[in-house]
Amino acid sequence: MQPLIQVEYLVKRYSSRGVLGSGEVVSALNEVSFSVAPGKTLALVGASGSGKSTLALCLACLERSTSGRIWFEGRDIAALDEKQLRAVRPQIQLVFQDPASSLNPRFTALEIVTEPLLVQRKWGTREMHERALALLERIGLSRGMASRRTGEFSGGQRQRLAIARALSLAPKLLILDEALSSLDCSVQAQIANLLLELQSSFVLTYLFITHDLAMAAHLGDEIAVMNRGRIVEQGVPEKVLGAPSHEATRGLVAATPGSIVTPRMPGGL
Ligand SMILES: Nc1ncnc2c1ncn2[C@@H]1O[C@H](COP(=O)(O)OP(=O)(O)OP(=O)(O)O)[C@@H](O)[C@H]1O
Ligand SMILES: [Mg+2]
Repeated sequence: MQPLIQVEYLVKRYSSRGVLGSGEVVSALNEVSFSVAPGKTLALVGASGSGKSTLALCLACLERSTSGRIWFEGRDIAALDEKQLRAVRPQIQLVFQDPASSLNPRFTALEIVTEPLLVQRKWGTREMHERALALLERIGLSRGMASRRTGEFSGGQRQRLAIARALSLAPKLLILDEALSSLDCSVQAQIANLLLELQSSFVLTYLFITHDLAMAAHLGDEIAVMNRGRIVEQGVPEKVLGAPSHEATRGLVAATPGSIVTPRMPGGL
């Protein structure tokens, strides 16, 4: 099957000013290559500072990569100009860790989900509201909650809202950067199940970034391990976590207590 997204030799360098004004270059991504098939989940793990969020920002076209290619549905989106990117951005959405800071607390749930639709100017008010209300219901918030302000929701409900907002423009790729990390375990499990349901109803492709190896094994069809800006290992969870070949993966596994591999379906993936 043709991948939905295929990344080839992606490089991202940041230049930052040192204390004495000398230019320092940080290689956040170093020839990163991988692909994800439509409807599948790639879980991305790796130590802090290994480049996961930088990769998320480059794929979502919120940061420009330094070199390399990002093939999305057969087009190299790394080579597009700002105007061309406007058509691509709605198709690749990003959900961050902290919904409290990514959602304006004065907005109502309905406004949060309607805002991206307003920007597109494709729908009338009534149709937009209907779409937004249907989506809110789909992610587990009742129509009665639509007029509540986001500041009045719990952390888990806010993260559901952030997911609904990200889905409002019917993206094909959803990047979740530590999106469950600030929630407690039972809420994480509920939202992980919601993500699985949404994936099968809307044929969504996920890049799921996490520090939680058990969650990576639960949600990922494959797991990729990043280390110092490179993907050093990639494969099915049983293989990557059960018989890691790279030292960085062994380090992550050793730092996680208990048994990790919990395949989604009996008999593997
Ligand atoms: N805007 C920036 N300017 C300069 N350096 C940056 C910038 N953003 C990230 N970096 C550097 O790039 C490297 C990768 O950072 P990144 O945030 O992608 O890591 P990460 O894997 O997401 O870490 P974490 O697990 O802590 O979220 C780090 O060395 C970081 O300091
Ligand atoms: Mg990060």
